[in-house]
Amino acid sequence: MSVSRRSFVATVGATLGAGATGILSAPLVSWRGHEGLLAQQGAQQPTSGIDTRRADRLMATRPGMIRIDSNENPNGPGKHALDGITQHLSESNRYPIKGEDDLIQVLAKVHGLKPENFILGCGSGELLRAAVFAFTSPTRALVAPEPTFEAPANFAKFLNRPVNAPKVDSKLSLDLVAMTDAARGAGLVYFCNPNNPTATVHGKTDVDTFVEHVMRASPETTILIDEAYHEYVASPDYRTAIPLALANPRVVVTRTFSKVFGMAGLRAGYAIGQPDTLKKMSAWLLGSNVNQLALVAAATTVVDAAHIADEVRRNKETRAFTRQFFEKAGYTVHSAEANFLMVDVRRDAKAFKAECIKHNVAIGRSFPAVPNYARVSIGTMAEMTKAIPVFRSVLATQVSSSH
Ligand SMILES: Cc1ncc(COP(=O)(O)O)c(C=O)c1O
Repeated sequence: MSVSRRSFVATVGATLGAGATGILSAPLVSWRGHEGLLAQQGAQQPTSGIDTRRADRLMATRPGMIRIDSNENPNGPGKHALDGITQHLSESNRYPIKGEDDLIQVLAKVHGLKPENFILGCGSGELLRAAVFAFTSPTRALVAPEPTFEAPANFAKFLNRPVNAPKVDSKLSLDLVAMTDAARGAGLVYFCNPNNPTATVHGKTDVDTFVEHVMRASPETTILIDEAYHEYVASPDYRTAIPLALANPRVVVTRTFSKVFGMAGLRAGYAIGQPDTLKKMSAWLLGSNVNQLALVAAATTVVDAAHIADEVRRNKETRAFTRQFFEKAGYTVHSAEANFLMVDVRRDAKAFKAECIKHNVAIGRSFPAVPNYARVSIGTMAEMTKAIPVFRSVLATQVSSSH
């Protein structure tokens, strides 16, 4: 059976019983509750960057908002993923043991590897945390460049583990020499390729050389290569680092179902590496950490090559359209190897974001290491067509900061 997104809601409603369709077609939590929460948070002043970020992301869910803030796939899960969920919904009373095995078998087939080369995560975010737990300590730092995806560094700081944070270079590429230096004696290096938020990518030679140099300088250091945006990369020099993770017990690769597969709300990701390395991480994971519906959707969508190709093509077209707007308007975009752009808006990106929100366009958070850069996720063509006039008018009215 195949389902459209609309009939999916109806089917789920029928499965759950009378009245459920109404519940499912309305927002699960009314926006009124969110407004209250936001007002409260505003009044109390968020106590940490994480509180602010959460309030910010909640703001993006306000009805009518164009949500291009979190690098999600605006099209949602593919049709086969939704079919899978519908077909397996009634098994939700069971713990997902078989679903875990099934997904791992499918992943092993897709990548041509053994099941023991995989562990699953409640999103790849859980696996990043597990790696910080497993490989850093009060005396063995995390190396996480600035800017990069902040979750590993935030978690390391929460655990009172040292963080070395070499800054990106003038074109926003990771400074692999500085990262190698920072890796001496460190427990874990977080290497996001392509990097969020800069959308820069490193080719195979760079990655191979980096791993070799870190291993020579600091043989006890583990390197986690986060390939959340792997499918979007077009650079001919780029290759996945999976072969490195198979050959080297000090390398792990993570992937997610939250980006090209459109399943950010379902929460599934995986890590690839040698079994003993993965065991060190899985000690920090909850048993059955991925729910049955996410497992089924993931197993169905990861083999859906047509869906992946469609999403990559759609993203590429809409990204080119968006990039062209910024570049024609005279704003620099150094690289675009993902489902977002990092634009030098030549002014405080925080103020730019705040102004866009007033016009119902929620862009990404700002990054203190590069305060004049705004991260814009790629929405649908219709969304970007509406967002661009907002960018144009905000850029025209806000005062540029000196460079
Ligand atoms: C580079 C990178 N890694 C990991 C994640 C976490 O994603 P998830 O936990 O949804 O897999 C994100 C989320 O945006 C990301 O940008």
